[in-house]
Amino acid sequence: MKKLIGAFVFYARFALPFSRIGYRRRVRAPLAADFSGQRWVVTGATGGIGRAIALGAAARGATVLALARDKAKLYALARDARGPGRIEAVQVDLSLMRDLRRVAGEIAAQGRVDVLVHNVGVMLHEYGRTDEGAERSFATNLLGHWVLDAALREAGALDARSAIISMSSGGMYGAALALEQLEAGDAATHDGFLAYAQHKRAQVELTKHWNALGPDAPKAWVMHPGWVDTDGVRSSLPGFRKVFGRVLRNADEGADTALWLAAVRPPVGEGIWLDRQRDPEHAFGFTREGADAQALAAWLAERAARA
Ligand SMILES: NC(=O)c1ccc[n+]([C@@H]2O[C@H](COP(=O)([O-])OP(=O)(O)OC[C@H]3O[C@@H](n4cnc5c(N)ncnc54)[C@H](OP(=O)(O)O)[C@@H]3O)[C@@H](O)[C@H]2O)c1
Repeated sequence: MKKLIGAFVFYARFALPFSRIGYRRRVRAPLAADFSGQRWVVTGATGGIGRAIALGAAARGATVLALARDKAKLYALARDARGPGRIEAVQVDLSLMRDLRRVAGEIAAQGRVDVLVHNVGVMLHEYGRTDEGAERSFATNLLGHWVLDAALREAGALDARSAIISMSSGGMYGAALALEQLEAGDAATHDGFLAYAQHKRAQVELTKHWNALGPDAPKAWVMHPGWVDTDGVRSSLPGFRKVFGRVLRNADEGADTALWLAAVRPPVGEGIWLDRQRDPEHAFGFTREGADAQALAAWLAERAARA
């Protein structure tokens, strides 16, 4: 019953702003931006929102390194790119830390990165582990972001001129960060929905950690796309899609704020971006009680050292 009331309160609060009606109310003008000469890295770039970010950046002049695992989808994406920029396919399993470290080295060897979009994210209801032993959604949604980011920094590909944009979710409004819930140890304790909300809340704290690294570090922003009709929603939330299908955003609408952040680079600070505006990080008091950025970073550093 408590869960049901929680869900009702959540949807009553967010259905309008997260829908395409919310997007159309807040975003009035198409984005005019020129990313010519910039080198972007976009993870999960063959899916709905990541694909729209990659195509949107290339259309505005960027060279986009598109990271995803499916070769055919990657080549289709590169083919669909409309200039003046272009898309280069980088095949990698974003849940595997050894592959991420390798790819980061290869990217860094070719030069610096202007914009890194940590877009990849999955909601996995079924429990599973990668061959490195990490729970799969945790590895994809959080540990991989940390490892890719750290490896690119260490290799000198990210500097004070770079921008980091993380794709969180409005689902994080329902979670107080609990480090022990980031990675379930077995199927009995895995709840795909709750794990996803934790990972998405963690991205908000991680952004604060990155912004506390000093003036020589890249600036970071965290955003969410609202509710967008993508393959991810189709496969992970079919019931939700059935109810809200008619008001879901399209992928370009979900991608808009990432492109806008990269173009405008507003002052960093607390908050999560949606539709080119900074929204509060907390909508319910209980989520303020969670672990903070410092605790998360220490925890992730220790976990990454074992990965
Ligand atoms: N859609 C929404 O309403 C919504 C709402 C809030 C937040 N978000 C967030 O927005 C981001 C994008 O969501 P989406 O709905 O566009 O997702 P999506 O349709 O599921 O696309 C995800 C992309 O990530 C790739 N991917 C997944 N696991 C991978 C792995 N291990 N290695 C390499 N690539 C992998 C997928 O490739 P494959 O095709 O090979 O699986 C696909 O390209 C996610 O972080 C999501 O949490 C989405």
